[in-house]
Amino acid sequence: MKGIVLSGGAGTRLYPATKAMSKQLLPIYDKPMIYYPISVLMMAGIRDMLIISSPESIDDFKQLLGSGEQWGVQFSYLVQNKPEGIAHAVLISKEYIGQDSFTLILGDNIFWGHGFSDILRVAVQQKQGSSIFLYWVSKPERYGVACIGEGNKVLDIEEKPKQPKSHWAVTGLYCYDHHAPEYAAQLKPSSRGELEITDLSRCYLQKGQLNARFMEEGIAWLDTGTHESMLQASMFVQAIQERQGLLIASPEEIAYRLGYISAQQLLKQAEIMKSTNYGKILLRLVNES
Ligand code: DAU
Repeated sequence: MKGIVLSGGAGTRLYPATKAMSKQLLPIYDKPMIYYPISVLMMAGIRDMLIISSPESIDDFKQLLGSGEQWGVQFSYLVQNKPEGIAHAVLISKEYIGQDSFTLILGDNIFWGHGFSDILRVAVQQKQGSSIFLYWVSKPERYGVACIGEGNKVLDIEEKPKQPKSHWAVTGLYCYDHHAPEYAAQLKPSSRGELEITDLSRCYLQKGQLNARFMEEGIAWLDTGTHESMLQASMFVQAIQERQGLLIASPEEIAYRLGYISAQQLLKQAEIMKSTNYGKILLRLVNES
């Protein structure tokens, strides 16, 4: 299983904050936004990841993340010349995907909570077909929305419907088998001129190969689409980190706990950040063990 983190897009909805900088490099509280989706993939046991971004920002991601060796993972990089859709990113990843199944996560999606990793770990074991992850929201019209029938069966998925048929939003996390680029190549651009990920998932639905996984109430799926929601996400992370004295979405910590890096390697990285709370928590982790 490979991982793809999609971190392109124009970011115009967050101007001027994103005029000279990619949205996914902005901080959510104490770490860059992209640390959150990378952590999700790492917790699911995925160590081979492709980072996709725009021509303007790809070098910034390379500078931030490097080869991945520091976290015991491997990063490859790919440029998406124009934001032509999330399914377009799948199409251009054909060579990277090869014969493997993969998990795609949007670089601006934040997930946190008990039981979340278990749901994802089950989904990534699946070698054929696809999985989408549904989350109950009060304003579904902002998202892809699943229409659910008897026995929790998905009947259809619609992209930002004016009159949503349910409150089940499709989150920015998708598991697909290696056929996905081939199906993406057959899609037509939507009215907003993009190859829609909803249309790709619908291909699997029509083949009877779409699994819907419902996220439980204790899981948080946070939005970063507006300045307000980014601030709320930051405050959420700050409140939990301070209350519990732990880090949410620290790739260093996850790498250490999963045995991808040694105490020595963790120490080296923590030392550089020792003047911050982030670094102090990592140092404590090394000392505790
Ligand atoms: O967040 C979940 C939602 O994400 C889903 O419910 C929707 O079905 C899905 O279409 C998507 O909706 P958005 O309107 O939020 O997508 P947006 O255009 O904002 O893109 C999401 C992220 O993907 C964003 O960080 C930028 C990146 N992106 C987007 C496009 C269209 C790219 O890197 N390349 C692209 O071509």
